Amino acid sequence: MALLDRTTASLPAAWYYDPEQYARELEAIWYRDWICVGRTEDWPEPGDYSVVSIGDESLVLTRDRDGSMHAFHNTCRHRGSALCVSPRGRFPNGRIVCPYHAWTYALDGRLLATPRMDLPADFRREDYSLYAAHLDAWGGFVFVNLSESPESTLAEFLGDEAEHVRHWPLAELVSVHRDVMPLACNWKVFWENYSECYHCPGIHPELCRVMPLYKEGLLSHADSSQTVPHGDATDPRARVAPGFVTWTLDGQTKLPLIEGPSDADRALGVVFASFTASFFIVAHPDYVRTVRIAPRGAEHVELTVDWLLPPGVAERHPGELEKMYALGRLVVAQDGRACELNQRGLRSRQHRAGVLMPQEESLHEFHEWLRARLGST
Ligand code: FES
Ligand SMILES: [Fe+2]
Repeated sequence: MALLDRTTASLPAAWYYDPEQYARELEAIWYRDWICVGRTEDWPEPGDYSVVSIGDESLVLTRDRDGSMHAFHNTCRHRGSALCVSPRGRFPNGRIVCPYHAWTYALDGRLLATPRMDLPADFRREDYSLYAAHLDAWGGFVFVNLSESPESTLAEFLGDEAEHVRHWPLAELVSVHRDVMPLACNWKVFWENYSECYHCPGIHPELCRVMPLYKEGLLSHADSSQTVPHGDATDPRARVAPGFVTWTLDGQTKLPLIEGPSDADRALGVVFASFTASFFIVAHPDYVRTVRIAPRGAEHVELTVDWLLPPGVAERHPGELEKMYALGRLVVAQDGRACELNQRGLRSRQHRAGVLMPQEESLHEFHEWLRARLGST
């Protein structure tokens, strides 16, 4: 990675709070990309549903009788009522019934019945199925794409990043705990914070004890302009401190190691897979943590953090779970505070744009990606 060698501006400050810019980004990115909305185990039985939001769009996800899943816009084809009153539940008898005039749909979205109504002679039920969205799954994660014709398959979207965690049996893991965290910041503020470690020495002292390279403000040896004596020339990724195993406050674990990761994976203690800008996976030898990012307006974002383990491990090791959550929770809370402070300062009438430092090359790449995406709509 070429380090920034000249003064480089950050994005225009208004892009972090202007509602019109936010609307442009929803169209260019959030309504076009594959967005992770949960785990397959969130819909265990046929008829189970939950309502999820992508930007301003409300969707209903449900599981069909044959086990397949569907995503629909949360809108009735009659006169547009929202279909679901509760954020989650189970459709009785496998029927989706609109709460307004009781138009009734199958779990695959087909219109089945229009009660107490004389139908016009030319009315064709098959023309009034629910508005479907594209849905696919990988590694037990459910993704939705709101584009009418997605530009990529889910596999193409996940690309090489998914390869980083290919040794973890992600589809077999189960989410044993979920934290949902609203933050008062633009989604880009959070993604930028995730993309650099310049802030690590000041904001994350506990994490820096586990990850010595982070003390230098670097996420990877590739980000250093100097020869790094403890770096591995063939693998520039940061690794846990000598004698440390995983991301806990003391770097130790009593959880069984997950079967699948190679010795090289385990030696690192942490492997990332990042899917700009909605989802990232942090895989450790003993557990996996994932973070989903959902914009909730120009100046708000909602994080959903899951901790994944092989089936049965949480039940056999209940006393170890708090230790597993502690460091990730602390880091997310520290990042959340920094992001909210960042958002507050961006609104100064004096501040037109920030400036990037060499360690923030990844932000520049993110900004170039964003500009390209905006230009292509
Ligand atoms: S709006 Fe749904 S049945 Fe009328
Ligand atoms: Fe951080």
